[in-house]
Amino acid sequence: MRGARLPFGARARNVNQPEGAALARSGEPVRRATGRGVVSVYLRPPAPGDRDEFISLMRASRAFHRPWATAPTDDERFDAYLADCRRADFEAMLVCRVEDEAILGFFNLSQIARGSLQSAYLGYAVGKPYARRGYMREGIELVLRVAFLTLRLHRVEANIQPDNHASIALAKGAGFRREGFSPRYLKIGGRWRDHERWAILAEEWRTRVEDGRPLAGDY
Ligand SMILES: CC(C)(COP(=O)(O)OP(=O)(O)OC[C@H]1O[C@@H](n2cnc3c(N)ncnc32)[C@H](O)[C@@H]1OP(=O)(O)O)[C@@H](O)C(=O)NCCC(=O)NCCS
Repeated sequence: MRGARLPFGARARNVNQPEGAALARSGEPVRRATGRGVVSVYLRPPAPGDRDEFISLMRASRAFHRPWATAPTDDERFDAYLADCRRADFEAMLVCRVEDEAILGFFNLSQIARGSLQSAYLGYAVGKPYARRGYMREGIELVLRVAFLTLRLHRVEANIQPDNHASIALAKGAGFRREGFSPRYLKIGGRWRDHERWAILAEEWRTRVEDGRPLAGDY
């Protein structure tokens, strides 16, 4: 699977063409025109040289992320993040702005399960200065392309606290369905927190793409 790793270059025109993984090896970042004709963001893997910019953005966003998510805010955690990126079951994607290459936020696909599951968990956060500008909405569409075309997953799951309206709007807008409620599901900030389970299947994503629903899309 490592051969199909980032930087992603999914430029498939037709979701039925099995070309995602092959194109991913082209070395181009994932960057696509949106339905609005504007390309704002692209995805790329984190690298050692991102340390200062990433840590400083995540530190500045700590209060904004609380109590929904945690992100690396020091050298040790950033090193652990880079180490995770080398694992076969983890895909980290930085959301970067086309205009100036600024790091805006991140998406992580974790616990990628192969065999008869072909699934992963999706986690994400935006840097506070870049929130509510539609960058993550654009980014999540690119992430789903990576998940379903490049990584060929069958299911992506996001677990979200019921009061996290921003995250629910992001997942719902990208086609995730609410599957259920999991009490005291995840320990965040030292407390077990209730979560809603949201998920999207490859076939649901393809139907959305074929219907022209995703924002990012000249598929
Ligand atoms: C969730 C998060 C990534 C969304 O980032 P963002 O920059 O606001 O995303 P966008 O601007 O692309 O907007 C995405 C959607 O969320 C909606 N939204 C954003 N903030 C919102 C808020 N405070 N309340 C309600 N909806 C909100 C937007 O209106 C948009 O909806 P639409 O697509 O239907 O128009 C961001 O709020 C965040 O990092 N939160 C803290 C960390 C976190 O919660 N991570 C997820 C844990 S499950």
